[in-house]
Amino acid sequence: MLILGIETSCDETAASVVKDEREILSHVVASSAQMHIQTGGIIPERAAREQIKSIIPVIEEALGKGVGWSPKEKSVPPIGAIAVTAGGPGLVGSMLVGVETAKTLSFVWSKPIVPVVHLLGHVYANWLGTEPEPQFPLLFLTVSGGHTDLFYTEKHGDYKWIGGTRDDAAGEAFDKAARLLGLPYPGGPSIAAAAAKHEIRNSRPPKSGTGGQAKFETRLPRPMIGEDGFDFSFSGLKTAVSREVNNLKNKNRLDEEVINFLAFEVQEAISDVLVEKTLKAVEKYNVSTLLLAGGVSANQRLREKFQSRILDLDLNLDFRVPLPSLCTDNASFIAGYAFYNYTPRPWKEIRAIPNANEAMEYYGINKG
Ligand code: KG4
Ligand code: ZN
Repeated sequence: MLILGIETSCDETAASVVKDEREILSHVVASSAQMHIQTGGIIPERAAREQIKSIIPVIEEALGKGVGWSPKEKSVPPIGAIAVTAGGPGLVGSMLVGVETAKTLSFVWSKPIVPVVHLLGHVYANWLGTEPEPQFPLLFLTVSGGHTDLFYTEKHGDYKWIGGTRDDAAGEAFDKAARLLGLPYPGGPSIAAAAAKHEIRNSRPPKSGTGGQAKFETRLPRPMIGEDGFDFSFSGLKTAVSREVNNLKNKNRLDEEVINFLAFEVQEAISDVLVEKTLKAVEKYNVSTLLLAGGVSANQRLREKFQSRILDLDLNLDFRVPLPSLCTDNASFIAGYAFYNYTPRPWKEIRAIPNANEAMEYYGINKG
């Protein structure tokens, strides 16, 4: 079967055609992120307007590339179903664009429609194009701009939430820290790039007179790293960065080198907490598969840290991270989710629900 996926939860307008669970035939993503760079973050109203402009061209392109369909033929494209992001996290205005478009196409083309909760959709990037499939029981960590959540699952459709952030999501922490450091939106990639500059510089011997490593003594907090349970908290990190930035500004010391160092520390602090707590959960739940998902899982340092700690702890773990292009928002994982959780609903029942929990309840997804 072929599924047309549609994703518009935030600032990406995406459509994909996926065949038989794992084969991506087309993968189209238009992003309004460039526009949000100027404002240092997303303005929901502007993001929604961009979605409206992009949705039809993006779907047309995905169907053209995926199945050679063109609207000029006035025929119904040869797809079996439509999957659409209808649950959060997301911005309601943006999400409505994809939802209402999918409902219209479902009605006009007489195709079943499968609603997908974005948070859960992310993890299905791990099933796309991979062989063999991830084995249950497994743990997954979704780390994005809107979520930091750990789930335990024994089968598709059944997701037991075991912990998550009490305040800011990991991606939000990257974004807010970047803003404080004067680095561009989205914060994750720009923090990673600045951190890499720091690492390169510090892999060379210090110039005489600079004091080398000793110049940087700040260590940012690793919130809740040693605490029992699987909750996270990242808002304190933002406060610590803000304090540090103000101090350094007052002393006139906030130059590029210091900014790169602080970016490095932010990345270290966030990844330390994510790795330690998640691997503690792996040990407690005794799973042999761990999947990462969400925009933050594109972070190279986070991936490397997971791999090296898994070796240190001698865990027998099938650790998987999607390709970077499948980590951030796209419609391929939305279609992927729909293959494994094929629960079409009448188009009249599909609603855009920005809160992931409420969406899981409304669509009857088991939360353990
Ligand atoms: O999953 P996603 O594309 O959208 C949401 O559903 O939120 O995640 C976006 C988040 C942003 O906060 C962005 O800064 C972060 O993922 N991100 C990264 C990286 N690429 C994107 N964070 C750290 N390192 C990256 N390479
Ligand atoms: Zn996302």
